[in-house]
Amino acid sequence: MLRRLHPEQPESFAFTPANQAWAEGQISKYPEGRQASAIIPLLWRAQEQEGWLTRPAIEHVADMLGMAYIRALEVATFYFMFQLAPVGVVAHVQVCGTTSCLICGAEDLIGVCRDKIAAQPFTLSPDRKFSWEEVECLGACSNAPMVQIGKDFYEDLTAERLGWILDELAAGRVPAPGPQNGRFSCEPLGDPTSLTGTPGDRMEHNASVDLALRLGDSVKRIDGTEVPLLTPWRR
Ligand code: FES
Repeated sequence: MLRRLHPEQPESFAFTPANQAWAEGQISKYPEGRQASAIIPLLWRAQEQEGWLTRPAIEHVADMLGMAYIRALEVATFYFMFQLAPVGVVAHVQVCGTTSCLICGAEDLIGVCRDKIAAQPFTLSPDRKFSWEEVECLGACSNAPMVQIGKDFYEDLTAERLGWILDELAAGRVPAPGPQNGRFSCEPLGDPTSLTGTPGDRMEHNASVDLALRLGDSVKRIDGTEVPLLTPWRR
């Protein structure tokens, strides 16, 4: 798939003071002459700040790292995690369309996105809350079909369930990610055939979902308030 910069770009980009301090801290982790190694975290923070990766942001990061713009553009256009067009302010939905998910109903999920968000991918919904795209395998094949929304996976989906999830997000609520059909993780749908013992103190959710619920960052953008800046050598 061709990945090009969006035709409409803002005039400029600057990190917020908190993000600027964080970015300088990341750069300081690399030895002199190797600052370009910080490009992915800096581009990611720029995207978290703006929602998508603009050309001024890419060039700003390149300037911070002493890189030619084309080198930074190569990184930004290569990795699909970088969004080169505006995305929904609430969430960008990434629907896996690879084999397992396709066999198990990914086309129905894409139909929900077309109905509820926009007929075409990388298009904002009328209320600008959502956007969507089809992506390659996200590595949760045993819980197909699935989507990634923000930072978390919603698995074992049906069209009805995805529609409900989008409605909940639009209303300001974030449904618990993970399996949506009652499975704990990726065990067989029927009774387990091995490791059949059930720990008496098993958590309500699997570890990934439990962490997502504790952090509450499924669709929240990282803004630097999550953890203190961990670069003690710069004090
Ligand atoms: S095929 Fe969809 S997660 Fe692997």
